[in-house]
Amino acid sequence: MDETYARWFRASTPYIRAHRGRTFVVMLGADALGSTSAINIVHDLALLHVLGVRLVVVHGAEVEANGPVAPELLAEIQAAVAKARAELESLFTTGIPLSPLHDRHIPLASGNLVTARPTGIQGGVDQLAAGTVRRVHVDVIRDLLGVESVVLISPVGYSNTGAVYALCVEELAATVAGELGADKLIVYDGAGRIADRSDLTTDELMRLQATWEHDAGTARRLDALAEACRRGVPRAHLIGFDEDGVLLKELFTAEGAGSQVSDADYRVIRRAGPADAGAIAELMRPLEASGVLAPRGADLVERRIESFFVAELDGALTGCCALFSLDAEAAEVACLVGGDAVGPRLLNAVEQAAVATGVHRLFALTTQARDWFIEHGFAKASVDALPVDRKALYNYRRNSHVLVKDLNR
Ligand SMILES: CC(C)(COP(=O)(O)OP(=O)(O)OC[C@H]1O[C@@H](n2cnc3c(N)ncnc32)[C@H](O)[C@@H]1OP(=O)(O)O)[C@@H](O)C(=O)NCCC(=O)NCCS
Repeated sequence: MDETYARWFRASTPYIRAHRGRTFVVMLGADALGSTSAINIVHDLALLHVLGVRLVVVHGAEVEANGPVAPELLAEIQAAVAKARAELESLFTTGIPLSPLHDRHIPLASGNLVTARPTGIQGGVDQLAAGTVRRVHVDVIRDLLGVESVVLISPVGYSNTGAVYALCVEELAATVAGELGADKLIVYDGAGRIADRSDLTTDELMRLQATWEHDAGTARRLDALAEACRRGVPRAHLIGFDEDGVLLKELFTAEGAGSQVSDADYRVIRRAGPADAGAIAELMRPLEASGVLAPRGADLVERRIESFFVAELDGALTGCCALFSLDAEAAEVACLVGGDAVGPRLLNAVEQAAVATGVHRLFALTTQARDWFIEHGFAKASVDALPVDRKALYNYRRNSHVLVKDLNR
């Protein structure tokens, strides 16, 4: 078996556990559905279903409401919606060997799950059959999810008077996610990552949105992400449909593949417990193997687990750090694994813990991250500056830089 594959599969275990039983709303616009990636996207959704995720798919159609909807346009929209729904139903039924759908029938459930009301007159213009969501029939959707159906919601809604209204798919997806109390809203778009960083707050997202005004589709999708978060959905993701497997990468790897938005900072930094030892050792292993971290191994992590701090995201560990006491006044920050801005927060946690135990000087020994530590307030020091016991253990073959931070400043 390919070693990278085995490592990837092992590392995905915490995410598999964290996502099981959760409700995800996935928005598939007409562009994603019409792309050559559609079959792969459906296979990835089927895999999520097999792994125990409760899935609601909100789909778009080639003809969408974008202003007033006259009867002829409504008829075109209804035809396009019916076509898109039929395409999705057929994609979810193709049992290609080696796909999650082979020998497994996944029922898709759809129907009058959303009631609508007319958008009405806006700026003096009657929007006719353009509508907005009035009610999401949450109990029915939950019942359908409970019997392991994938729920399919189309961008049309019906009123109590029997009228049909065309809905905006982005608004529909955000409303459904909010009303259902979904754990995630996942939106497919042409542009997968809209910023250098993978994680954004809703404020950062809205600032970025201004730069997407030229692209009304993406701008609407960014709005939907923010709206879902405002409605209490803990995380909303934007992913690109062109890249194969992007959904799996976003949900089952620490680095992700899209932009993740949340209203608050969702990454928890906490002290490690015995149950974290294995995951910490796994985080450190590749860096130990490449020589970036001194080899300490799983034994040491287990023995000194009370010295470790971890960063947790969605129930999976994404970073770690240890605070080893050297003497009454000095300690060492070690085994730091960061990424995605987790490093500074782990360092901060360790510094606070050090100060709380009366430590004045914090040492760091590093072969590759000297500049990073200097940027975080450390100064260059010599091996002789280390407390005598630690100096005796200094590995001259590794020849690490010694850095120190005065915590009293
Ligand atoms: C160093 C490390 C902990 C930083 O964690 P992080 O969560 O990425 O922290 P930040 O968000 O502050 O880091 C991002 C910035 O630091 C820079 N940076 C990352 N690693 C760096 C390094 N080794 N040296 C100098 N700068 C570094 C990045 O280029 C980035 O700069 P930018 O914002 O200008 O693009 C992380 O890169 C890591 O795990 N490195 C490998 C392990 C290691 O060396 N640990 C220290 C020994 S105990």
